[in-house]
Amino acid sequence: MLNAQDRAIVKSTVPLLESGGEALTTYFYKMMLEEYPEVRPLFNQAHQASGDQPRALANGVLMYARHIDELEQLGDLVAKIINKHVALQILPEHYPIVGSCLIRAIAEVLGRDIATDEVLQAWTHAYQQLADILIGAEGAIYNEKAEAVGGWRGAREFKLVKRVDESAEITSFYLQPADDGPILGFTAGQYIGLQLFIGGEEMRRNYSLSAVAGGNQYRISVKREPNGVVSNYLHDQLQIGDSLQLFTPSGEFTLTESQKPLVLISGGVGITPTLAMLETALETSRPVHFIHCARNGAVHAFRDWVDGLAGSHPQLKHFYCYAEDDGVSPAADAVGLLDQQQLEQWLPEDRDLDAYFLGPKGFMAVVKRQLKAAGVPEKQSRYEFFGPASVLE
Ligand SMILES: Cc1cc2nc3c(=O)[nH]c(=O)nc-3n(C[C@H](O)[C@H](O)[C@H](O)COP(=O)(O)OP(=O)(O)OC[C@H]3O[C@@H](n4cnc5c(N)ncnc54)[C@H](O)[C@@H]3O)c2cc1C
Ligand code: HEM
Repeated sequence: MLNAQDRAIVKSTVPLLESGGEALTTYFYKMMLEEYPEVRPLFNQAHQASGDQPRALANGVLMYARHIDELEQLGDLVAKIINKHVALQILPEHYPIVGSCLIRAIAEVLGRDIATDEVLQAWTHAYQQLADILIGAEGAIYNEKAEAVGGWRGAREFKLVKRVDESAEITSFYLQPADDGPILGFTAGQYIGLQLFIGGEEMRRNYSLSAVAGGNQYRISVKREPNGVVSNYLHDQLQIGDSLQLFTPSGEFTLTESQKPLVLISGGVGITPTLAMLETALETSRPVHFIHCARNGAVHAFRDWVDGLAGSHPQLKHFYCYAEDDGVSPAADAVGLLDQQQLEQWLPEDRDLDAYFLGPKGFMAVVKRQLKAAGVPEKQSRYEFFGPASVLE
């Protein structure tokens, strides 16, 4: 526990973090990634270039400073960080690197008039407190996953045993342990970490598990991103029998047990975690409304599979919305962007429901607003980002 003086000093820096937090974390990442090449592969460079990761860290640091007297308020944020760290295999030895760079960045960005010895000392103590919390929680999860049936520690070799094209842009990859042993169970909505070596360079990425684990295989479904390093490698290079390394499943965007009607809303490749959620929910009798938006029929993945499930599960209703009609694919239920009236028609009448949604950021901002306007309680409306978290406005 920090002493009262350190807490007061950290809180006094809140206004500086509100106005300059992003500049600080941008500077921090640039310095750290240049000076410590050993941590570079852990980070997705696209999230640095877009500014999403510096923004997410700036928000994390600001929230920590604001709530330094009431850390229990940070539960959701801390859970998100821990899950992301676990899926990318962040280890205790990485923390001193981040800590020293962060303190140097505070000194160099704010200047020594503001970042006095007292301020730097208070932030050093505060960083250590948070690092200890994260290291402890992450260590407990690593141990738990190593000891569980089918579990493991660190990277485990898997082989590609099957690949299926699901649309013009999305391909599924079925992965099985090279040792043929059992695999760790997971909760629908979770994702794995993938470690690859492409052109001699190490890369790590997260992919949602797009099917309930069958036997000893995991399935991920990957969209080919224009100029994306890993997605194009998987689509173009990875052949049956090839190896890749996996970190254990993780994630807090999970289907919770409930009897309320379930609404799953996805845009594009955001469909992946909702597939495992759909499969899981249909093991019970709860009503499920599955709403999927795609650019057009050619890029709409898993349509036949969802249609097939609806044939055998009367509790499932599905609705498809295409931004454009390509004139070739089977028709959608609506053409254009998802609007309020359309969504309201497709929701169950009873708005005391559980909604889960995922897709491009702009799409998620609209869905969040629309669900609220439709009367769905905000805390029953859950979402995740395929990248660092940001504010949906
Ligand atoms: C929890 C989670 C779950 C996910 N689940 C899935 C899933 O189920 N399916 C799926 O397909 N994806 C998923 N993702 C996204 C996935 O992790 C990758 O981000 C995605 O595949 C793109 O990776 P890439 O290496 O192909 O592209 P990257 O190389 O990371 O590039 C992404 C984009 O950024 C651009 N870019 C890269 N570097 C720069 C730069 N320096 N300057 C400017 N632009 C740049 C690229 O041109 C490209 O358009 C998930 C992400 C998370 C966090
Ligand atoms: C107290 C220390 C730390 C804090 C407060 C912190 C905070 C965060 C936050 C807020 C995110 C974004 C989570 C999300 O929105 O999904 C994140 C992601 C991440 N963190 Fe940390 N972190 C800390 C330490 C570390 C360390 C020591 C490392 C390893 C060097 C690390 C590596 C990562 C990586 C690789 C990601 C994902 C980045 C990406 O998507 O490109 N973090 N962290």
